[in-house]
Parts: sequence; structure tokens; C-alpha cells
Amino acid sequence: MLSRLSAGALKKAANLGTSRSSTLLNLSHHSRVRFTSSNSSSSAGFESLLSSRATLASVSLFTAGSIAWYTHLYGSLPFLGEVHAGHLSDEGLHAAAYPWSHGGVLDTFDHASIRRGYQVYREVCAACHSLDRIAWRNLVGVSHTADEARAMAEEVEYTDGPNSEGEMFQRPGKLADYMPAPYPNEEAARAGNAGALPPDLSLIVKARHGGADYLFSLLTGYIDPPAGVEIREGMNYNPYFPGGAISMARLLFDGLVEYDDGTPATTSQMAKDVATFLSWAAEPEHDERKKYGIKAVIIFSALTLISLYVKRFKWSPIKNRKIQYNPPVDKIH
Ligand code: HEC
Repeated sequence: MLSRLSAGALKKAANLGTSRSSTLLNLSHHSRVRFTSSNSSSSAGFESLLSSRATLASVSLFTAGSIAWYTHLYGSLPFLGEVHAGHLSDEGLHAAAYPWSHGGVLDTFDHASIRRGYQVYREVCAACHSLDRIAWRNLVGVSHTADEARAMAEEVEYTDGPNSEGEMFQRPGKLADYMPAPYPNEEAARAGNAGALPPDLSLIVKARHGGADYLFSLLTGYIDPPAGVEIREGMNYNPYFPGGAISMARLLFDGLVEYDDGTPATTSQMAKDVATFLSWAAEPEHDERKKYGIKAVIIFSALTLISLYVKRFKWSPIKNRKIQYNPPVDKIH
């Protein structure tokens, strides 16, 4: 850049450098040379441009315009948190903490409840909700025997293949098959539920704040909308659901299912059982995890005690020794 400037321009630059106003004194040497490549009158024009109100106004306008355009396109600025007036009901009523039989540090699932909960899932929820991550074999030894699970699997037809002619065929289910989904795809599920998607229930207990407590409260919490709350046609009011309006209607009513073990099927009993079943589905390793946990605590505390003892044992000669100093006897006297 410098090499392309004429000698005259450079001389002007030197002169101008001294007569420059205080606002431009801070500019680096490089930019000073650049300004002076134009003549002095335009440089003065540039100075006034920098400090003029019109520039300030147009720059502000340009910034505001860019922000408006960006927010119009993308919703909000990426570095600003969203601020909006909200109400507590937007978050949903907070579920109470219920004393689950598997809630304690050493407690395992109530397996009779898992079995009843599976029955509620199969007879009620499975009409709309899938349970993708659970296979028939997972039920074996948890809630059903192998023969029971196999018999249930065989009632369902699965598409398999291709066979040697390259065609897909139907066959009865096996223990290794996963739970059948009620709808073939998301679009069909939405079409069957007035546009709302019934979520997969495999991990729902982990996916919602409050877990099993939320599930129980949601299933038992349907009430009429309070005065002043408008609910759209086809929606239902449930204070535990964020926003209050849920597309899933109340489903559990006393006596809806008939339990094999003769437990009275009240609404809360079914809600508790299905919540226990879904807690197991979300965390099938739960019982094992707690068993390994207690084993680890016992083994590691025993090892800690042994290592403390060994440390004291090894150090005892050093800690107990007595250091005696015998000054040399003066041999002169
Ligand atoms: C008639 C179909 C239908 C049945 C039967 C049904 N649900 Fe739903 N469920 C839905 C729909 C639709 C949604 C989505 C609701 C929404 O987003 O407004 C839903 C949502 C849910 C949710 C998620 C709520 C949230 O916080 O997002 C849970 C949990 C749930 N259902 C559990 C169950 C359980 C448990 C059963 C069985 C007792 C059951 N559902 C039976 C249709 C159904």
C-alpha cells in the first residue's frame, strides 16, 4: 500500500499527521497513512462524518434494523435469554412426593405391582403408546415366567424376512421381539390423536420432571377446568400437565381392568401400578444396581478398615521408636 503512494502524498501525510485533531490522534500509524492518500479536504469531511449526528442516527437505525430482521427470521438473538411474562401454571402443578416401594436406597421394585402395571399398560395405554425399548424377554423373571411371556409374544404377528424368494412374511412373535407399536409411524399416531403425538413410554419416567410421582399425579389428576380457564374443544384439563390442557383424556376409572391377583382395580391402584411398571421399563437394571451398590459399600468399607489397620501396623515400629542422643564424653578430663 505504502509503495503505491506518490512521494507528494507521503509528504502531505507527514504534515497532516501533526495538524490532526485529537480524535484521530489515537489512530494507528498505518491507518493515518491510508487517510492521507486522499486529499486533506476529504479527510476533514471524514472527521465530521464520524462525529455527526446523522451518522450516529443512521448507524443506530442500521443496528436496530439488523436486529429486527434477524429476530424476524430466527425468533430471538442467540446470546440473549428468552424473557416472557409467564404464569406458574405454564410449568404445571408440582407433583407431590409419594412413598414408592422402590424409593429407598436399599429397596427393590414391587414385582407384583410391575406385573399388574404391565396389564394396565397392555389393556389401556398400549392402544396409543408404544414401548419401543422393551422386548418380551425383558419381562421374563421380572413380572412373568418364560412360558407366559412366550405365549403373549406368540399372540402378536411380526413381519420378518426376506425369505429365500425375497419376500417378507408374517410369523408369530418370539421372546426376542420388541413390544409391538400401536401405530406404524409418527404421522399415523398424530392422525389418530387429533394432531397430538402420544410419546413412547419406555423412558417417560426419566424424561419428565418428577418421574413416577408426575405420572401418578397426571393419571389421577384430571379435574374440570377452574372458572375462567378456557380449554379448546377436544383438550382436557389437568393441572399437572404444563399449560393445563392435555390431548390425552382421563383413561383410568375404577374397575377398568380385572387384575389376575384379585387386587381391587381402583383408579389410584392402576395409576400406581402402571407408574411402577414404567419406572421399571425406564430402569430395568434398578434392582441389580442397588444390589451391586450395597456390595460395593460393604467391600470398600472392609478394604478401607483393613488398609487403615495395615498402615498402623507397618508404621508402629517407626511411630513407637525412641530417639536418644548420647553426647560424646569429653576425654580430656
Ligand atoms: C387414546 C389414546 C391414549 C391412551 C389410551 C393413553 N394415552 Fe397417554 N397420551 C396420549 C396423547 C395423545 C398424548 C399427548 C398429549 C399432549 O401432548 O397433549 C399422551 C401423553 C401421555 C404422557 C406424556 C405427558 C407429558 O408430560 O408430555 C404420558 C406420561 C402418558 N400419556 C401416559 C399414559 C398412560 C400411563 C396411559 C395408560 C394408562 C396412557 N397414556 C394412555 C394418548 C393416549
